[in-house]
Amino acid sequence: MTAVLGFGGYVPDRVMTNDDWAAIVDTDDEWITTRTGIKERRFAADDQSTLDLSELAALTAMKDAGLNQDDIDEIVVATDTPEVYTPDTASLLQDRLGCRNVPTYDLGGSGCAGWIQAIDVARARIAFEPKKVLVVGVELISRLISWEDRATCVLFGDAAGAVVMGPGDGKAELLDVISGTDGSKADILTLQTGGTRHPFTVESAAAGDHQRLEMKGSEVFREAVRRMSAVTLELLEKLDRPLSEVALLIPHQANKRIIDAVGHKLGIEEDKVFINVDRYGNTGSATVPLGLWEAYEQGRIKPGDLVVLTAFGAGFHWASAAMQF
Ligand SMILES: CC(C)(COP(=O)(O)OP(=O)(O)OC[C@H]1O[C@@H](n2cnc3c(N)ncnc32)[C@H](O)[C@@H]1OP(=O)(O)O)[C@@H](O)C(=O)NCCC(=O)NCCS
Repeated sequence: MTAVLGFGGYVPDRVMTNDDWAAIVDTDDEWITTRTGIKERRFAADDQSTLDLSELAALTAMKDAGLNQDDIDEIVVATDTPEVYTPDTASLLQDRLGCRNVPTYDLGGSGCAGWIQAIDVARARIAFEPKKVLVVGVELISRLISWEDRATCVLFGDAAGAVVMGPGDGKAELLDVISGTDGSKADILTLQTGGTRHPFTVESAAAGDHQRLEMKGSEVFREAVRRMSAVTLELLEKLDRPLSEVALLIPHQANKRIIDAVGHKLGIEEDKVFINVDRYGNTGSATVPLGLWEAYEQGRIKPGDLVVLTAFGAGFHWASAAMQF
């Protein structure tokens, strides 16, 4: 049995509203609200980095679990916006938290589905050896997006979420995880510059290519709805649990219309679908653990509840996890 021992999260203080974006690019509150449901998002302060956000979320989760830095046996960080190119953000987090010399690794590049993939890896590691694993999902996207591209810049925000997982009993049991990937769709949502195919050059930096997120929005939209609803149903079928038993669905928060379409396709009641995209925008691999932490903190999850998480992101990757509280 794999348990979640504690939940945590962190959002920076700085609020960036739709009107703030309208003062920078050719957009307006009405377009952003009707197309995405986003009203505002949080941006990290100039002196904050991915590591700071990770640390604050990790400390909340460790406190909630009643654990300190010496209790952590392994650290995984899911992020597409790491602290530095190398080494992994998780090793820097190990040092920052003052943990022992336990193994650490990042799960990078999996976009918004990365954190659910990371808890699946943690689950396998715990089954192999009883350990307490800290699993963080974090993004500081505001520093890497183009502040000139209205089609992408308004969608994202900065945040972190975390859990501590371990063997035995905890606050919730991780019942199962299902994930999948379609690598043939890699070009539909991609940031190309900086890797070995297109290394940084003076010219690419001057052109802002390192911030050029290429996205075919409507194709991403369609695939996100299709994959998140299908993987959620597949998971429930595998667990032999009907949809009516789900107390709360926490989907990836990219766009309110995507969330509504997933809910509609599944046929789940609106009040059983968690939404915070209006306040935080798309925070990548942080949306699901942040939503889980908020729902838990707000008392929206009660003992005995079946909670289902689902996410979709660049790759394309998709994943669903079920937790029994
Ligand atoms: C991006 C997204 C909100 C666009 O919504 P949409 O209804 O598909 O809008 P369209 O792509 O049809 O664009 C319509 C027009 O709005 C314009 N537009 C784009 N961004 C705009 C903005 N911020 N403000 C005003 N107009 C904007 C486009 O240029 C386009 O103009 P045109 O018709 O003159 O070319 C939507 O496709 C989406 O959410 N996709 C998924 C994105 C996502 O979740 N990515 C992360 C995945 S994890």
